[in-house]
Amino acid sequence: MTVYNIRVFRGDASGGDFREYVVEVDEGEVVLDVIHTVQATQANDLAVRWNCKAGKCGSCSAEVNGKPRLMCMTRMDLFAPDEPISVAPIKAFPLIKDLVTDVSFNFEVAKKIPAFQPRPPDTADGRYRIMQEDIARGQEFRKCIECFLCQDVCHVIRDHPENKPRFFGPRFLVRLAELEMHPLDTADRTELIREAAGIGYCNITKCCTEVCPEDIHITDNAIIPLKERVADRYYDPVRWVLRKISGR
Ligand code: SF4
Ligand code: SF4
Ligand code: FES
Repeated sequence: MTVYNIRVFRGDASGGDFREYVVEVDEGEVVLDVIHTVQATQANDLAVRWNCKAGKCGSCSAEVNGKPRLMCMTRMDLFAPDEPISVAPIKAFPLIKDLVTDVSFNFEVAKKIPAFQPRPPDTADGRYRIMQEDIARGQEFRKCIECFLCQDVCHVIRDHPENKPRFFGPRFLVRLAELEMHPLDTADRTELIREAAGIGYCNITKCCTEVCPEDIHITDNAIIPLKERVADRYYDPVRWVLRKISGR
């Protein structure tokens, strides 16, 4: 047992502050365990969202010592017992209560992305032929657990909430890359990526990649290839001339 001093944000949309709790921590415990201990023994009304405690549901996102993290995957032995530890709600979304934020912005963005539209099967009995490397490319993007830590850290919406109507955020650029690179998909989302998704707002700082608990190479493997598609379509002078001539 080690005793830790942990500061947890308490409050709601009208305001709040950090409160200090002294907690005994067992070997192997994670930040979410400590939050549960505080809830069970000292603050029954402490609001926290979680589900799997296995790094898979994406519910327990918070900012631990200012860094976006999954509470259930952040071990307490990362910190020295005399080190100050703070746990705050993710900042990019409106606060509901304590550690719980309203992430409905993300679900509204998800609705704006046209769904997967497969081409007809390659064989009469309904089968497709796909290159293994095409399957592997999209697999990385499908690991996303929708924790929205990348959305939280992205300065485009974190520091400028007014950009939310113009920028989908990194999680949804990953979703767009997953669909656009799918070997069977036939939908064309390039105009959406340029305009509604606002890919031009991303200046490739890679902060989103750094916090992704699924180790998705968001910037290099999703955003940059999407930017290249937009540049090819709209800013390549040869293609521009060809489009003018062909009228397409
Ligand atoms: S790389 Fe782009 S999407 Fe990712 S955090 Fe930076 S600005 Fe946001
Ligand atoms: S891309 Fe990574 S950080 Fe972003 S929502 Fe998915 S799992 Fe979370
Ligand atoms: S509780 Fe599911 S990811 Fe943390």
